[in-house]
Amino acid sequence: MRISVIGCGYVGLVTGACLAEAGHQVLCTDIDSQRIAQLQAGGVPIYEEHLDRLLESCRKSGRISFTSDTSEAIRASEAIFICVGTPPKGTGGADLSAIDNVARQIAREARSPKLVVEKSTVPARTGIELQRALEAYSRGGEIRFRVASNPEFLREGTAVYDFFHPDRIVVGVNEAQAGEELREIYRPILERKFHCPVHGENCPPHAETPFVITSINSAELIKHASNSFLALKISYANVIADLCEKIGADVEEVNHAMGLDPRIGTQFLKAGLGFGGFCFPKDVQAFIHLSETVGVNFEILKAAERVNKQRIDAFLGKVHKALWVVKGKKIAVLGLAFKANTDDIRFAPALEVIERLLAEGAEVHASDPQAISRAKAIQPNVSYHEDPYEALRHADAALVCTEWEIYRKLDWERAGKVMARRLVIDGRNLYAPGRMREMGFEYHCFGRPE
Ligand code: UGA
Repeated sequence: MRISVIGCGYVGLVTGACLAEAGHQVLCTDIDSQRIAQLQAGGVPIYEEHLDRLLESCRKSGRISFTSDTSEAIRASEAIFICVGTPPKGTGGADLSAIDNVARQIAREARSPKLVVEKSTVPARTGIELQRALEAYSRGGEIRFRVASNPEFLREGTAVYDFFHPDRIVVGVNEAQAGEELREIYRPILERKFHCPVHGENCPPHAETPFVITSINSAELIKHASNSFLALKISYANVIADLCEKIGADVEEVNHAMGLDPRIGTQFLKAGLGFGGFCFPKDVQAFIHLSETVGVNFEILKAAERVNKQRIDAFLGKVHKALWVVKGKKIAVLGLAFKANTDDIRFAPALEVIERLLAEGAEVHASDPQAISRAKAIQPNVSYHEDPYEALRHADAALVCTEWEIYRKLDWERAGKVMARRLVIDGRNLYAPGRMREMGFEYHCFGRPE
């Protein structure tokens, strides 16, 4: 099938590359012409594992191409995936102006019927407005647009794997034809007729993927409800961590054993600095806003959001307690990305931590395997080091903010020799407290006995 993808960010690029790998002919576009030029020249503007290899092979086979001419992308394909940003507005709702712009462009430029798929995360009832905009701006209403919602459940860092091994594919439609077209698009994945770009021949067996057809409103709600539920789980785990600290229990033991009940599940119960990134914080906010708009009080989700905001305060509380005075101290921050295996720093807890340390007069030295150049662009008042041991040199404290594998395996004996003081405040519970103390470190983390 000929498919166009509008928006070449984390969602659009992965979607485009994976659909091309699955056998479709994909044309990607973006209003950022520099980004398109980079992609045309063989570059990859974001870090996402396996994406570079995938793009390279699809470029070579001619299954993917890039254009900055949106009308070309609109006219070239039968199906258009909208993957533009829906950032938070000051009011709490999502800013849907990029979706609106794309809808009007599609309506004006299309010369034949199109399947228009919302992939961006949007509040429920956006599909209705999308359909209205497409009809209102199309030339005399002679072109028929079939609107569908196809929320993505890709995790940054494992997005390529997730695309080919989904737990479910959800499509929201208001006519059967759109549902069948989407089933056709996903057929290679549903029938597992693809070469796994992550594991190749050794791809482990995967359970059959349910293809769930719903109304458009339900599909939109499923996305917000899923992300918000996971956010609830994380905040719950964090409150348990606070309780453990007061009571003298170990949150790792409690959450692990609690999660062994399959009705609860062990995932998303990791306590620490809380959730960040461009999905959970904004989706929770938008879901609360949507609920308020329709007169439903989502108190439980508001509480989860409050708990999450307090994680940074709790972390800095530990820093203050350990360092006493922060002003003039040299602090090493390990990890800038909002989580491991990505270069994404949007709503990253590390950046808020850094901002508050700088405001207090600390000297901050930071390291990250992928996110330094992005962080530099928005936070120039930090010294950045590729090598974590350089960031730790003469540091009064090390703050662990992202659970990168290289930090999990860091040689703390070596680090201890270059630090001014053996003090680690771990926002991700990466290390065994006993081992750290054996090495002479003062070690603070979340929800584990001091
Ligand atoms: C999330 C969802 O997991 C995806 O299913 C969804 O498609 C995506 O949002 C989206 O809406 O686009 P992502 O934001 O990439 O994916 O990251 P997650 O792995 O879900 O982590 C989110 C945040 O929660 C991170 O800051 C992470 O550090 C934090 N987290 C996660 C915890 O604090 N504890 C946990 O146990 C798990």
